[in-house]
Amino acid sequence: MKNINIGILGCGIVGTGVSKLLIEKKQFIKSRTGVLFNLKHVADIDIKRQRSITFKQGVFIKDAEKIINDPEIDIIVELIGGKDIAKDFTIKALKNGKHVVTANKALIASFGNELVKTAYKNNVEFAFEASCGGCMPVIKTLRESMVGNTIESMTGILNGTCNYILTKMSKENCSFDKALEQAKEKGFAEADPFLDIEGFDSAHKLAILISLAYGKEITLNDIYVEGITEISPMDIQFAREFGYVIKLLAISKNYKNNIEARVHPAMIPLANPLSYIDGSMNAVVINGDVTGETMLYGHGAGMMPTASAVISDIVDIARNIITKNKTRIPILGYFQENIKKIPVFSIKEINASYYFRFAAADNPGVLSKISGILGDHNISIKIVQQTGRNINGSVPVVIITHLAKEENIQKALKMISKLDSIIDKPVVIRIEEDKKI
Ligand code: HSE
Repeated sequence: MKNINIGILGCGIVGTGVSKLLIEKKQFIKSRTGVLFNLKHVADIDIKRQRSITFKQGVFIKDAEKIINDPEIDIIVELIGGKDIAKDFTIKALKNGKHVVTANKALIASFGNELVKTAYKNNVEFAFEASCGGCMPVIKTLRESMVGNTIESMTGILNGTCNYILTKMSKENCSFDKALEQAKEKGFAEADPFLDIEGFDSAHKLAILISLAYGKEITLNDIYVEGITEISPMDIQFAREFGYVIKLLAISKNYKNNIEARVHPAMIPLANPLSYIDGSMNAVVINGDVTGETMLYGHGAGMMPTASAVISDIVDIARNIITKNKTRIPILGYFQENIKKIPVFSIKEINASYYFRFAAADNPGVLSKISGILGDHNISIKIVQQTGRNINGSVPVVIITHLAKEENIQKALKMISKLDSIIDKPVVIRIEEDKKI
């Protein structure tokens, strides 16, 4: 029987959860792996704050370097979060020959290529199942279970905070701010919730999934990102009237030599299984050429679900250690020499259906001017609705289009915004009609 020493950097919500699992389920995990994991040290800059765990004398320390330089520690778990210190420690640990497990999506999305190369160079593992979708096993699904598939598309609800806020606004008429406060209290939101509500956390996760799905270098900057801060109760209400639900989606479509990669709020029909994913839950629909549609669902955040994903990586690495395997499964799912740079379409090049809401002065001829401009830009209207809801002297004019090119949409909206009768900035929400998105 093998003993493996673990060191954890960072004892926040997830660090506490991983420590608990390693301590409380030590014998259970041993019965499944033949390995006795010993949590040798946990480091955090704040060792005074009360946690829901009590460590044995000498385990909880302030000095992360002590863990990174300890020759007896085999696996280091980075749960500090953020990018700068986490990157320094991860690089140092890999260079010291430690296997590293992390839940840090911002770190991987920003520096993943360098970290993966460093891991290979030092003959160690770098694992990150907990970085996307909490306990939803999406990394292993893409890298291992669906290895025989060309991935055609992925559509996910990858941010628990945004999904919680949109669900609360839509089902309980809760305000955005109150729902965000609750998400913070429940521990889903990032230390800086701007990353959640502006879509960047979803983009970090999508960048990682795209790399694993298509054998692409991890690149964050070419993902189009829009958050949920402009979604109003009125648009949620209109969406419902038309049979849609608004979700923050992370979408990627594979066109062989190019891909689409975008994060934005979208209206999806009630027939789409993602429309039923509520609260802080995450889900992703992956279309493989062999499997067809596969859907994963689970807790995308929170102490124990995320800890569960971290433990799965620790166990994978331990199994490799005891069978003397080194990076048996390529870190990004493809042989490193086959990881390519694949270009990403600009948002202007995508095709979608669109929902517009204009605040228009209730004057004769407004609708014909709007529809004229849309027609001039090759945008075909599917539904028009002008209700009597007069708000500050304007009426909402809602239009749903057939499939149109985003570039044309942007040009048309610019012209419509300049009409005298259009009062506020138009609201635009993309619609993902196809169930196989
Ligand atoms: N802030 C993230 C979310 C945590 O709300 O999904 C899990 O990555």
